[in-house]
Amino acid sequence: MNNMDKINVREAEECDLEQIITIGEGIFPYEYNPKTKEQSHIFFKGKLGKSLDKVYVAYRNDELLGFAIYSPEGLTATHKIFQIGIKKEFQGQGIGVILLKESMVQYVQNMKKLGLDVYAIYLTTSSDNPAGQNLYRKLGFVEVGRMNDTFIGKGNVEIVMTKFFDERKYPTGLWNEDKK
Ligand SMILES: CC(C)(COP(=O)(O)OP(=O)(O)OC[C@H]1O[C@@H](n2cnc3c(N)ncnc32)[C@H](O)[C@@H]1OP(=O)(O)O)[C@@H](O)C(=O)NCCC(=O)NCCS
Repeated sequence: MNNMDKINVREAEECDLEQIITIGEGIFPYEYNPKTKEQSHIFFKGKLGKSLDKVYVAYRNDELLGFAIYSPEGLTATHKIFQIGIKKEFQGQGIGVILLKESMVQYVQNMKKLGLDVYAIYLTTSSDNPAGQNLYRKLGFVEVGRMNDTFIGKGNVEIVMTKFFDERKYPTGLWNEDKK
């Protein structure tokens, strides 16, 4: 493989699942391991085809280099990136930026085609993961809050980061309108 060849991003297909899960096993051991192998297939299969959830892969020639998993929060205009990961040996080479940037463009287009608006995309990344935080900041995500103890175990602090796609405001009185 020539490292100068172009990196492309596209929606994942069923034939990508083995490679995606292998990449996951190398970088997200809590989620992808021999115990969860069968569930990993079920998880990804549910996100392909006609699903509102989307998985994108970065690839060069025939080799998958990373993946990103998106989903709408219910039917709201707020969406979530569950995970983005680059195969260990290819980290730090600018591929994460390409994958995140290009997959966001494709995801927003996909959602609009499906009739869903995109106000914001958010994610959480561990406070002890500078690579994640730097990548997301670089592409316009800002910290909006923190969640404690919720993932992996007590002591974990997740930074909630959001990228906003429009300037809409929260309407006052949404839940306590005078109904008389
Ligand atoms: C986080 C991750 C997706 C970044 O992808 P990548 O291809 O390695 O990142 P890139 O080479 O595109 O770098 C993008 C930016 O991220 C930051 N970055 C990347 N690696 C870094 C590191 N080891 N330490 C600190 N910042 C880092 C830098 O700001 C970099 O921009 P710069 O090179 O202009 O300074 C990748 O390292 C990864 O898969 N890590 C393991 C899984 C993970 O942590 N996922 C994210 C949390 S869910």
